[in-house]
Amino acid sequence: MSDARLADLSRRLPDLRLLVAAADLEHYGRDWTRRWTPAPLAIALPASIDEVQAILCWANEHDVAIVPSGGRTGLSGGAVAANGEVVLSLQRMNRVLDFDAVDRTLTVQPGIALHTVHEAARSHGLIYPVDFAARGSCSIGGNIATNAGGIRVIRYGNTREWIVGLQVVTGSGELIELNRGLIKNSSGYDFRQLLIGSEGTLGIVVEATLKLTDPPPPSQVMLLALPDMDALMQVFALFRARLALQAFEFFTDRALEHVLAHGAQRAIEGDYPYYVVTEFDAADEPAQDAALAAFEHALERGWVSDGVIAQSEAQATALWRLREGITESLAPRRPYKNDVSVRISAVPAFLHEMQALLAHEYPQVEVVWFGHIGDGNLHINVLRPEELAEEAFIAQCEHVTKLLAATLQRHGGSISAEHGIGLVKRAYLESTRSAAEIALMRGVRKVFDPNGILNPGKLFADG
Ligand code: MLT
Ligand code: ZN
Repeated sequence: MSDARLADLSRRLPDLRLLVAAADLEHYGRDWTRRWTPAPLAIALPASIDEVQAILCWANEHDVAIVPSGGRTGLSGGAVAANGEVVLSLQRMNRVLDFDAVDRTLTVQPGIALHTVHEAARSHGLIYPVDFAARGSCSIGGNIATNAGGIRVIRYGNTREWIVGLQVVTGSGELIELNRGLIKNSSGYDFRQLLIGSEGTLGIVVEATLKLTDPPPPSQVMLLALPDMDALMQVFALFRARLALQAFEFFTDRALEHVLAHGAQRAIEGDYPYYVVTEFDAADEPAQDAALAAFEHALERGWVSDGVIAQSEAQATALWRLREGITESLAPRRPYKNDVSVRISAVPAFLHEMQALLAHEYPQVEVVWFGHIGDGNLHINVLRPEELAEEAFIAQCEHVTKLLAATLQRHGGSISAEHGIGLVKRAYLESTRSAAEIALMRGVRKVFDPNGILNPGKLFADG
């Protein structure tokens, strides 16, 4: 080790896996944003809680910044290491530690992939219901750090609803056990909830106890084509009133074009501006009839132009691919992403204002919308025109984001619904959080991480 600090780390932890090869620094120093050039000092891959604690003690002594790292599927730069940090990858701590049939909980290490958690829950006849397209690559530790949402929030809520216990190593290297799997625990501040969504700025999750639940009844998946934007919330209100929704997702014709070009199968002929993929309980004939009746009602009102119900699991998967494949289909274009939310009741007014704003500000730029409209959460993906240089493009997007943030503020919304603030949105935090709140957030950070070594520059611009 040529770096004296790393040599000291290796001396303290001779068994610690430490990577410094250029390819590793590049691989572990970036996330799915692909905007920053990775430049970490080294990658540490601890295999135990003791090692994590020792790394943090070492980092405090040497004043080395630590970037906690899971699957690095984040879209806000929360796991980017571009300034000589040590990336602390939890990828080797990826085991299921315990299943408790009475408590119906699964205790896992943070580096376990979400889909492995799903499989483990299913092997006990239960489910862990948080789900989204990156399930194969993202880690539960990262999900906790961003309070990940996804496609089933409408039924099950975000990650924070499903975490009943955490073990966390704070910025100063202390191990704390939070909530211990309790359902009821009214004994003061709930640091577990504070840690969830803290984007690696307060502590490192080294163990998590997840609540599991019963699988939902058999469901059906429906794809709907809609004639205009107003119909979106009309159909949502109708379906939510009549059916037991598990998901209600939307995307535009532009999103469809990209996902079809990426290999998905067209399911509805003709061109329509908006589409919805919805999944709902359909265990028996009355439930299936209710879905059909809701569809026909929407058709009669002109809220829906066409639709298809999946007749098999394969067809259901194909319909879901039209929505879930969008991110991957856009990834080669490295889109600039906004991930915003408003209350469901504010969606119609916000959508109109936002559409006018985007049309005005991006006249020559392709903008792709999709998202979790049933949760009031929209993903806006802006694609750089080939002739526009990256820097100028980002500057334009930052300008529009400022305007968007002001619009959101007027509608009482959030600049980050589920992707986190990270590096991408830290300049807009004030649009969602008051000055008093931000001052408290900074104070909390100081308590958990007095030397500011955990993920500096994320969430707050100045550390
Ligand atoms: C999604 O809803 O597909 C994810 O949040 C990813 C994305 O927004 O690109
Ligand atoms: Zn999403």
